[in-house]
Order: sequence, then structure tokens, then C-alpha cells
Amino acid sequence: MKRPWPAKPGAHSIADYDVVIVGTPIWSWTLNPVIRGWLRDNSIPTRIPYAAFATAGGAAGSRAFEEMAAIVGRKAVATMTIVDADRKSGEDVRAIERFVADVRAAGSDRAQ
Ligand SMILES: Cc1cc2nc3c(=O)[nH]c(=O)nc-3n(C[C@H](O)[C@H](O)[C@H](O)COP(=O)(O)O)c2cc1C
Repeated sequence: MKRPWPAKPGAHSIADYDVVIVGTPIWSWTLNPVIRGWLRDNSIPTRIPYAAFATAGGAAGSRAFEEMAAIVGRKAVATMTIVDADRKSGEDVRAIERFVADVRAAGSDRAQ
């Protein structure tokens, strides 16, 4: 579970994007192995900000984002975790709105 699993290459080059958003389900308190494999196989150029979100049953913690930062070489500009209880209560919608606003703010900070 802690090993990287291979991910299929994407159809587009990461270099063509203004921002990269990486999403992972939490597996064993950290990254899903396919996401780990994708991150190891695809470097995100330092000029492109990346943000990250995770979905989890209930015990997410921050290990996934820490592991992601260690692989990418820097922290995400914004992070969000949604657990099952958020989906039931509707808090997920507010969390996504906050996350999108944080990603936009990080993008406009860099554009200045
Ligand atoms: C192998 C496996 C390990 C998991 N480990 C965790 C965990 O450590 N903590 C947690 O809160 N949820 C854990 N989950 C629950 C998933 O994070 C959750 O079902 C998933 O984020 C929901 O997204 P999905 O519908 O895209 O799979 C695990 C699920 C699987 C299949």
C-alpha cells in the first residue's frame, strides 16, 4: 500500500496548465498508491502552483499532503479534505467553495 502504483500517462502536458489540482482518496492515512505513482512520474514545474484535495472516510490527518509535498518538493498552495460526514451534512459544498477561492487567490497572487 505504501508503494507507488503506475498511473497511465495523461493526454496533455502539465506544462500547458496554469494550475494543477491533485486529488486523492486517503488510503491508510495517506496517498492512494496510484496518486503516489503519478506524482513520482510527473514533476510539476515550479512556476505552476499546485493545490491538493483528499477524500476520506473519517480519519484523514495531514499525512497525505505532507507526503505529497515531499514528492513534489514544495507545499500545495491550498488544501482541502472532505470526509464522509461532510458529504452527509452538506459541509462539502462549503469546503469546495473555500478551496476554489483559495486556489484562485493563490493564482492571482502569482500573476501580480
Ligand atoms: C484501501 C482503502 C484504505 C482506506 N483508508 C482510509 C483511511 O486511512 N482513513 C480514512 O478516513 N478513510 C480511508 N478509506 C476510505 C476512503 O478514503 C474513502 O472511501 C474515499 O476517500 C471515498 O472516495 P471514493 O468514493 O473516490 O473512493 C480507505 C479506503 C480504502 C479502499
